[in-house]
Amino acid sequence: MKNFDIENIRADFPILKREVNGKPLVYLDNGATTQKPKQVIDAIVNYYTQMNSNVHRGVHYLSQISTDAFEVTRRKAQALINAAYDHEIIITKGTTEAINIVATCYGRMFIEKNDEIIISAMEHHSNIVPWQMLCEERGCKLRVIPMNEQGELDQQAYKSMFSDRTKLVSVTYVSNALGTINPIKEMIDVAHQYEVPVFVDGAQAIQHIAVDVQELDVDFFAFSGHKMYGPTGVGVLYGKERLLNAMPPYQGGGDMIKDVTFEKTTYNDLPFKFEAGTPNIEAGICLGDAIDYINAIGLAEIQAYEEELLNYAVVRLSEVEDIRFIGTASHKSSVISFVVGDIHPYDIGVILDKLGVAVRTGHHCAQPVMEQFGIPGTVRVSLAMYNTKEEVDILTAALKRAVDMLR
Ligand code: ALA
Repeated sequence: MKNFDIENIRADFPILKREVNGKPLVYLDNGATTQKPKQVIDAIVNYYTQMNSNVHRGVHYLSQISTDAFEVTRRKAQALINAAYDHEIIITKGTTEAINIVATCYGRMFIEKNDEIIISAMEHHSNIVPWQMLCEERGCKLRVIPMNEQGELDQQAYKSMFSDRTKLVSVTYVSNALGTINPIKEMIDVAHQYEVPVFVDGAQAIQHIAVDVQELDVDFFAFSGHKMYGPTGVGVLYGKERLLNAMPPYQGGGDMIKDVTFEKTTYNDLPFKFEAGTPNIEAGICLGDAIDYINAIGLAEIQAYEEELLNYAVVRLSEVEDIRFIGTASHKSSVISFVVGDIHPYDIGVILDKLGVAVRTGHHCAQPVMEQFGIPGTVRVSLAMYNTKEEVDILTAALKRAVDMLR
Protein backbone atom coordinates (compact mmCIF):
# COMPACT_ATOMS: atom_id res chain seq x y z
CA MET A 1 0.00 0.00 0.00
CA LYS A 2 1.81 3.01 -1.40
CA ASN A 3 0.77 5.85 0.88
CA PHE A 4 -0.77 3.87 3.68
CA ASP A 5 1.36 4.21 6.79
CA ILE A 6 -0.85 3.48 9.78
CA GLU A 7 1.58 4.96 12.33
CA ASN A 8 1.78 8.25 10.41
CA ILE A 9 -1.98 8.30 9.96
CA ARG A 10 -2.62 7.75 13.67
CA ALA A 11 -0.11 10.45 14.54
CA ASP A 12 -2.20 12.90 12.50
CA PHE A 13 -5.20 12.47 14.84
CA PRO A 14 -4.43 14.12 18.18
CA ILE A 15 -7.52 12.77 19.95
CA LEU A 16 -6.35 9.18 19.47
CA LYS A 17 -3.65 9.82 22.06
CA ARG A 18 -6.08 10.62 24.86
CA GLU A 19 -7.40 8.33 27.53
CA VAL A 20 -11.04 7.70 28.40
CA ASN A 21 -11.95 6.37 31.84
CA GLY A 22 -8.25 5.85 32.54
CA LYS A 23 -7.79 3.65 29.45
CA PRO A 24 -6.36 4.46 26.02
CA LEU A 25 -9.18 5.54 23.74
CA VAL A 26 -10.29 2.92 21.21
CA TYR A 27 -12.64 4.87 18.98
CA LEU A 28 -14.95 2.58 17.01
CA ASP A 29 -17.92 4.89 16.43
CA ASN A 30 -16.81 6.25 13.09
CA GLY A 31 -20.18 5.69 11.45
CA ALA A 32 -21.55 8.36 13.78
CA THR A 33 -18.66 10.74 13.21
CA THR A 34 -14.97 10.42 12.44
CA GLN A 35 -12.12 12.08 14.31
CA LYS A 36 -10.27 14.96 12.65
CA PRO A 37 -6.64 15.04 11.55
CA LYS A 38 -4.45 17.96 12.63
CA GLN A 39 -4.46 19.16 9.01
CA VAL A 40 -8.20 19.87 9.34
CA ILE A 41 -7.92 21.22 12.90
CA ASP A 42 -5.09 23.56 11.84
CA ALA A 43 -7.15 24.72 8.88
CA ILE A 44 -10.02 25.63 11.23
CA VAL A 45 -7.66 27.66 13.42
CA ASN A 46 -6.16 29.26 10.33
CA TYR A 47 -9.61 30.25 9.09
CA TYR A 48 -10.48 32.07 12.31
CA THR A 49 -7.07 33.64 12.80
CA GLN A 50 -6.41 34.66 9.19
CA MET A 51 -9.58 34.77 7.11
CA ASN A 52 -12.82 35.04 9.04
CA SER A 53 -15.24 36.96 6.87
CA ASN A 54 -18.53 36.40 5.08
CA VAL A 55 -18.52 34.81 1.64
CA HIS A 56 -19.97 36.01 -1.68
CA ARG A 57 -20.69 39.44 -0.19
CA GLY A 58 -17.74 41.63 0.58
CA VAL A 59 -15.49 43.73 -1.60
CA HIS A 60 -12.76 43.66 1.04
CA TYR A 61 -9.70 41.43 1.14
CA LEU A 62 -10.80 38.98 3.84
CA SER A 63 -14.15 38.40 2.19
CA GLN A 64 -12.43 37.72 -1.09
CA ILE A 65 -9.99 35.18 0.33
CA SER A 66 -12.69 33.37 2.31
CA THR A 67 -14.95 33.32 -0.77
CA ASP A 68 -12.11 31.95 -2.86
CA ALA A 69 -11.34 29.27 -0.26
CA PHE A 70 -15.03 28.30 -0.04
CA GLU A 71 -15.21 27.96 -3.81
CA VAL A 72 -11.99 25.92 -3.85
CA THR A 73 -13.78 23.37 -1.64
CA ARG A 74 -16.62 23.23 -4.12
CA ARG A 75 -14.15 22.33 -6.84
CA LYS A 76 -12.42 19.77 -4.61
CA ALA A 77 -15.78 18.15 -3.92
CA GLN A 78 -16.51 18.21 -7.66
CA ALA A 79 -13.22 16.43 -8.33
CA LEU A 80 -13.74 13.96 -5.49
CA ILE A 81 -16.95 12.63 -7.03
CA ASN A 82 -16.09 13.56 -10.62
CA ALA A 83 -19.08 15.83 -11.18
CA ALA A 84 -19.21 17.43 -14.61
CA TYR A 85 -19.59 21.02 -13.30
CA ASP A 86 -18.78 22.77 -10.04
CA HIS A 87 -22.24 24.36 -10.03
CA GLU A 88 -23.69 20.86 -9.59
CA ILE A 89 -22.15 20.88 -6.08
CA ILE A 90 -24.48 22.45 -3.50
CA ILE A 91 -22.86 23.04 -0.12
CA THR A 92 -25.36 21.96 2.56
CA LYS A 93 -25.44 21.39 6.31
CA GLY A 94 -25.02 17.68 5.66
CA THR A 95 -26.66 14.65 4.09
CA THR A 96 -29.93 15.11 5.97
CA GLU A 97 -30.36 18.61 4.61
CA ALA A 98 -29.45 17.39 1.12
CA ILE A 99 -32.22 14.77 1.22
CA ASN A 100 -34.68 17.35 2.53
CA ILE A 101 -33.75 19.73 -0.30
CA VAL A 102 -34.50 17.10 -2.93
CA ALA A 103 -37.65 15.83 -1.22
CA THR A 104 -38.97 19.36 -0.94
CA CYS A 105 -37.87 20.88 -4.23
CA TYR A 106 -37.99 17.90 -6.58
CA GLY A 107 -41.20 16.91 -4.78
CA ARG A 108 -42.85 20.29 -5.33
CA MET A 109 -41.95 20.25 -8.99
CA PHE A 110 -42.46 16.65 -10.06
CA ILE A 111 -44.53 14.66 -7.54
CA GLU A 112 -48.30 14.45 -7.71
CA LYS A 113 -51.05 12.57 -5.92
CA ASN A 114 -50.71 8.77 -6.19
CA ASP A 115 -47.16 8.98 -7.54
CA GLU A 116 -44.68 6.57 -5.99
CA ILE A 117 -41.23 6.95 -4.48
CA ILE A 118 -39.08 3.87 -3.94
CA ILE A 119 -36.82 3.65 -0.89
CA SER A 120 -35.38 0.55 0.79
CA ALA A 121 -35.86 -1.41 3.99
CA MET A 122 -32.40 -0.45 5.23
CA GLU A 123 -32.67 3.33 5.05
CA HIS A 124 -31.58 5.68 7.82
CA HIS A 125 -34.48 7.74 9.18
CA SER A 126 -33.07 10.69 7.19
CA ASN A 127 -33.91 8.83 4.00
CA ILE A 128 -37.38 7.83 5.17
CA VAL A 129 -38.93 10.75 7.01
CA PRO A 130 -38.46 13.51 4.37
CA TRP A 131 -40.23 11.27 1.83
CA GLN A 132 -43.02 10.50 4.30
CA MET A 133 -43.46 14.23 4.85
CA LEU A 134 -43.67 14.68 1.09
CA CYS A 135 -46.24 11.86 0.88
CA GLU A 136 -48.39 13.57 3.50
CA GLU A 137 -48.17 16.85 1.61
CA ARG A 138 -48.68 15.56 -1.95
CA GLY A 139 -50.67 12.36 -1.44
CA CYS A 140 -47.93 10.23 -3.00
CA LYS A 141 -46.88 6.78 -1.76
CA LEU A 142 -43.71 5.16 -0.48
CA ARG A 143 -42.70 1.75 -1.81
CA VAL A 144 -40.07 -0.11 0.19
CA ILE A 145 -37.57 -2.57 -1.37
CA PRO A 146 -37.48 -5.61 0.92
CA MET A 147 -34.30 -6.99 2.45
CA ASN A 148 -33.25 -10.58 3.18
CA GLU A 149 -31.84 -12.07 6.41
CA GLN A 150 -28.28 -11.17 5.37
CA GLY A 151 -29.27 -7.55 5.00
CA GLU A 152 -29.22 -7.49 1.18
CA LEU A 153 -31.88 -5.80 -0.91
CA ASP A 154 -34.13 -8.02 -2.99
CA GLN A 155 -33.22 -6.94 -6.50
CA GLN A 156 -36.02 -8.94 -8.15
CA ALA A 157 -38.61 -7.25 -5.96
CA TYR A 158 -37.01 -3.89 -6.77
CA LYS A 159 -37.31 -4.49 -10.51
CA SER A 160 -40.97 -5.36 -10.15
CA MET A 161 -41.83 -2.14 -8.31
CA PHE A 162 -41.64 0.25 -11.25
CA SER A 163 -44.69 1.60 -13.00
CA ASP A 164 -45.59 4.84 -14.72
CA ARG A 165 -46.37 6.22 -11.26
CA THR A 166 -42.75 5.80 -10.06
CA LYS A 167 -41.13 9.24 -9.83
CA LEU A 168 -37.95 8.72 -7.83
CA VAL A 169 -35.74 6.09 -6.20
CA SER A 170 -33.83 7.07 -3.05
CA VAL A 171 -31.47 4.48 -1.65
CA THR A 172 -28.39 4.34 0.52
CA TYR A 173 -25.05 3.28 -0.92
CA VAL A 174 -23.86 1.76 2.39
CA SER A 175 -26.18 0.88 5.28
CA ASN A 176 -25.20 2.67 8.49
CA ALA A 177 -26.74 -0.08 10.64
CA LEU A 178 -25.64 -3.17 8.69
CA GLY A 179 -22.68 -2.15 6.56
CA THR A 180 -24.22 -3.59 3.38
CA ILE A 181 -22.83 -2.07 0.20
CA ASN A 182 -25.71 -1.90 -2.25
CA PRO A 183 -25.17 -2.54 -5.99
CA ILE A 184 -26.14 1.01 -6.77
CA LYS A 185 -24.80 1.09 -10.34
CA GLU A 186 -27.13 -1.80 -11.26
CA MET A 187 -29.99 -0.20 -9.31
CA ILE A 188 -29.50 3.11 -11.11
CA ASP A 189 -29.47 1.33 -14.48
CA VAL A 190 -32.77 -0.37 -13.66
CA ALA A 191 -34.41 2.91 -12.64
CA HIS A 192 -33.13 4.64 -15.76
CA GLN A 193 -34.76 1.99 -17.97
CA TYR A 194 -38.00 3.49 -16.63
CA GLU A 195 -36.61 7.05 -16.87
CA VAL A 196 -36.79 7.40 -13.10
CA PRO A 197 -34.07 9.48 -11.40
CA VAL A 198 -32.11 8.09 -8.47
CA PHE A 199 -30.91 9.76 -5.27
CA VAL A 200 -28.04 7.97 -3.53
CA ASP A 201 -27.30 8.65 0.15
CA GLY A 202 -23.52 8.46 0.25
CA ALA A 203 -23.03 9.41 3.91
CA GLN A 204 -21.54 6.03 4.84
CA ALA A 205 -19.79 5.48 1.50
CA ILE A 206 -17.76 8.58 0.69
CA GLN A 207 -15.06 7.90 3.32
CA HIS A 208 -14.60 4.27 2.22
CA ILE A 209 -15.28 3.96 -1.52
CA ALA A 210 -14.24 6.00 -4.56
CA VAL A 211 -17.35 7.56 -6.12
CA ASP A 212 -17.72 8.71 -9.73
CA VAL A 213 -21.13 10.27 -10.21
CA GLN A 214 -20.77 10.40 -13.99
CA GLU A 215 -19.80 6.77 -14.24
CA LEU A 216 -22.66 5.81 -11.91
CA ASP A 217 -24.91 8.18 -13.87
CA VAL A 218 -26.55 8.96 -10.51
CA ASP A 219 -28.99 11.87 -10.54
CA PHE A 220 -28.49 13.08 -6.95
CA PHE A 221 -25.78 12.13 -4.47
CA ALA A 222 -25.17 13.41 -0.93
CA PHE A 223 -22.53 13.15 1.76
CA SER A 224 -21.50 14.76 5.05
CA GLY A 225 -18.18 16.35 5.99
CA HIS A 226 -17.99 15.06 9.53
CA LYS A 227 -18.06 11.40 8.49
CA MET A 228 -15.06 11.92 6.22
CA TYR A 229 -12.61 13.42 8.71
CA GLY A 230 -13.94 16.94 8.10
CA PRO A 231 -15.93 19.42 10.17
CA THR A 232 -19.53 19.01 11.30
CA GLY A 233 -22.35 21.11 9.88
CA VAL A 234 -21.31 20.80 6.26
CA GLY A 235 -22.01 18.40 3.43
CA VAL A 236 -22.65 18.21 -0.27
CA LEU A 237 -25.65 17.69 -2.48
CA TYR A 238 -24.68 16.76 -6.01
CA GLY A 239 -27.42 16.99 -8.59
CA LYS A 240 -27.43 16.83 -12.37
CA GLU A 241 -27.56 20.36 -13.74
CA ARG A 242 -30.76 19.68 -15.68
CA LEU A 243 -32.62 18.52 -12.56
CA LEU A 244 -31.28 21.22 -10.25
CA ASN A 245 -32.23 23.87 -12.79
CA ALA A 246 -35.76 22.49 -13.02
CA MET A 247 -36.27 22.56 -9.25
CA PRO A 248 -37.46 25.61 -7.28
CA PRO A 249 -35.20 26.95 -4.50
CA TYR A 250 -35.31 25.35 -1.06
CA GLN A 251 -35.18 28.42 1.18
CA GLY A 252 -35.50 32.12 0.46
CA GLY A 253 -32.90 34.58 1.71
CA GLY A 254 -29.50 36.01 0.90
CA ASP A 255 -27.27 34.58 -1.85
CA MET A 256 -30.08 32.68 -3.59
CA ILE A 257 -31.46 35.78 -5.32
CA LYS A 258 -30.52 37.65 -8.46
CA ASP A 259 -32.90 40.53 -8.00
CA VAL A 260 -35.52 41.39 -5.37
CA THR A 261 -38.40 43.84 -5.61
CA PHE A 262 -41.62 43.80 -3.61
CA GLU A 263 -43.38 42.64 -6.75
CA LYS A 264 -41.09 39.78 -7.74
CA THR A 265 -37.81 38.03 -7.00
CA THR A 266 -35.63 36.35 -9.58
CA TYR A 267 -33.45 33.54 -8.36
CA ASN A 268 -29.72 33.14 -8.62
CA ASP A 269 -28.04 30.58 -10.84
CA LEU A 270 -26.70 27.26 -9.62
CA PRO A 271 -25.29 26.50 -7.14
CA PHE A 272 -26.31 29.62 -5.19
CA LYS A 273 -30.02 29.12 -5.84
CA PHE A 274 -29.89 26.39 -3.18
CA GLU A 275 -27.55 28.15 -0.75
CA ALA A 276 -29.70 30.73 1.05
CA GLY A 277 -28.17 32.55 4.00
CA THR A 278 -24.66 32.62 5.40
CA PRO A 279 -23.29 29.09 5.19
CA ASN A 280 -21.05 27.35 7.70
CA ILE A 281 -18.04 29.09 6.17
CA GLU A 282 -15.31 27.58 8.32
CA ALA A 283 -16.66 24.07 7.82
CA GLY A 284 -17.15 24.66 4.10
CA ILE A 285 -13.55 25.77 3.68
CA CYS A 286 -12.06 23.05 5.89
CA LEU A 287 -14.06 20.29 4.19
CA GLY A 288 -11.58 20.94 1.39
CA ASP A 289 -8.72 20.06 3.76
CA ALA A 290 -10.45 16.79 4.68
CA ILE A 291 -10.77 15.96 0.98
CA ASP A 292 -7.06 16.72 0.52
CA TYR A 293 -6.26 14.44 3.45
CA ILE A 294 -8.19 11.53 2.00
CA ASN A 295 -6.74 12.09 -1.46
CA ALA A 296 -3.18 12.15 -0.11
CA ILE A 297 -3.67 8.63 1.27
CA GLY A 298 -5.89 7.37 -1.54
CA LEU A 299 -9.34 5.82 -1.34
CA ALA A 300 -8.15 2.58 -2.92
CA GLU A 301 -5.53 2.18 -0.18
CA ILE A 302 -8.05 3.13 2.51
CA GLN A 303 -10.58 0.64 1.19
CA ALA A 304 -8.05 -2.21 1.01
CA TYR A 305 -6.84 -1.55 4.56
CA GLU A 306 -10.35 -1.27 5.98
CA GLU A 307 -11.46 -4.46 4.25
CA GLU A 308 -8.61 -6.39 5.85
CA LEU A 309 -9.46 -4.87 9.23
CA LEU A 310 -13.16 -5.69 8.82
CA ASN A 311 -12.37 -9.34 8.04
CA TYR A 312 -10.04 -9.55 11.00
CA ALA A 313 -12.65 -8.02 13.32
CA VAL A 314 -15.35 -10.46 12.21
CA VAL A 315 -13.00 -13.39 12.89
CA ARG A 316 -11.98 -12.07 16.31
CA LEU A 317 -15.52 -11.14 17.42
CA SER A 318 -16.78 -14.58 16.34
CA GLU A 319 -14.88 -15.93 19.34
CA VAL A 320 -17.49 -14.36 21.62
CA GLU A 321 -20.01 -16.96 22.70
CA ASP A 322 -23.60 -16.36 21.53
CA ILE A 323 -22.68 -13.43 19.30
CA ARG A 324 -25.15 -12.88 16.47
CA PHE A 325 -24.04 -10.62 13.66
CA ILE A 326 -26.81 -8.44 12.25
CA GLY A 327 -26.00 -7.79 8.61
CA THR A 328 -23.90 -10.45 6.90
CA ALA A 329 -24.12 -9.27 3.31
CA SER A 330 -21.50 -10.63 0.93
CA HIS A 331 -20.47 -7.08 0.03
CA LYS A 332 -19.87 -5.06 3.18
CA SER A 333 -18.19 -1.90 4.38
CA SER A 334 -16.61 -1.17 7.77
CA VAL A 335 -19.65 -1.71 9.99
CA ILE A 336 -20.17 -4.69 12.30
CA SER A 337 -23.50 -4.78 14.11
CA PHE A 338 -24.21 -7.51 16.62
CA VAL A 339 -26.13 -8.67 19.67
CA VAL A 340 -24.90 -11.18 22.26
CA GLY A 341 -27.51 -13.61 23.58
CA ASP A 342 -30.29 -11.63 25.22
CA ILE A 343 -27.99 -9.02 26.75
CA HIS A 344 -29.20 -5.50 26.04
CA PRO A 345 -26.81 -3.71 23.65
CA TYR A 346 -26.85 -0.61 25.86
CA ASP A 347 -25.43 -2.56 28.82
CA ILE A 348 -22.59 -3.84 26.64
CA GLY A 349 -21.91 -0.30 25.35
CA VAL A 350 -21.67 1.09 28.89
CA ILE A 351 -19.12 -1.51 30.00
CA LEU A 352 -17.10 -1.15 26.80
CA ASP A 353 -16.97 2.58 27.46
CA LYS A 354 -15.61 1.98 30.96
CA LEU A 355 -12.85 -0.01 29.27
CA GLY A 356 -12.06 2.85 26.88
CA VAL A 357 -13.86 1.42 23.86
CA ALA A 358 -16.35 3.75 22.11
CA VAL A 359 -19.11 2.04 20.11
CA ARG A 360 -22.66 3.03 19.25
CA THR A 361 -25.59 1.09 20.66
CA GLY A 362 -29.28 1.29 19.85
CA HIS A 363 -31.30 1.44 16.66
CA HIS A 364 -28.80 3.67 14.83
CA CYS A 365 -31.61 5.83 13.41
CA ALA A 366 -32.80 2.79 11.44
CA GLN A 367 -35.70 1.49 13.49
CA PRO A 368 -37.32 -0.46 10.60
CA VAL A 369 -34.08 -2.47 10.28
CA MET A 370 -34.22 -3.43 13.96
CA GLU A 371 -37.88 -4.33 13.60
CA GLN A 372 -37.12 -6.67 10.71
CA PHE A 373 -34.47 -8.47 12.77
CA GLY A 374 -36.77 -8.57 15.83
CA ILE A 375 -34.33 -6.76 18.12
CA PRO A 376 -34.41 -3.43 19.99
CA GLY A 377 -30.98 -2.48 18.73
CA THR A 378 -27.41 -3.63 18.23
CA VAL A 379 -23.90 -2.87 19.33
CA ARG A 380 -22.29 -1.25 16.32
CA VAL A 381 -18.57 -1.19 15.67
CA SER A 382 -17.74 1.12 12.79
CA LEU A 383 -14.14 1.23 11.62
CA ALA A 384 -12.09 4.00 10.08
CA MET A 385 -8.71 4.12 8.36
CA TYR A 386 -6.90 4.90 11.65
CA ASN A 387 -8.16 1.81 13.49
CA THR A 388 -5.84 -1.15 13.98
CA LYS A 389 -5.89 -4.89 14.60
CA GLU A 390 -4.54 -4.18 18.10
CA GLU A 391 -7.65 -2.08 18.76
CA VAL A 392 -9.82 -4.93 17.50
CA ASP A 393 -8.01 -7.20 19.99
CA ILE A 394 -8.76 -4.73 22.80
CA LEU A 395 -12.41 -4.61 21.70
CA THR A 396 -12.65 -8.40 21.65
CA ALA A 397 -11.14 -8.76 25.13
CA ALA A 398 -13.37 -5.97 26.47
CA LEU A 399 -16.46 -7.54 24.92
CA LYS A 400 -15.67 -10.94 26.42
CA ARG A 401 -15.27 -9.27 29.81
CA ALA A 402 -18.52 -7.33 29.43
CA VAL A 403 -20.42 -10.45 28.44
CA ASP A 404 -19.00 -12.37 31.43
CA MET A 405 -20.12 -9.59 33.76
CA LEU A 406 -23.61 -9.36 32.26
CA ARG A 407 -24.43 -13.08 32.08
N1 ALA B 1 -26.02 8.51 10.97
C1 ALA B 1 -25.07 8.41 12.01
C2 ALA B 1 -24.87 7.01 12.50
O1 ALA B 1 -25.14 6.08 11.79
C3 ALA B 1 -25.31 9.38 13.10
O2 ALA B 1 -24.42 6.83 13.61
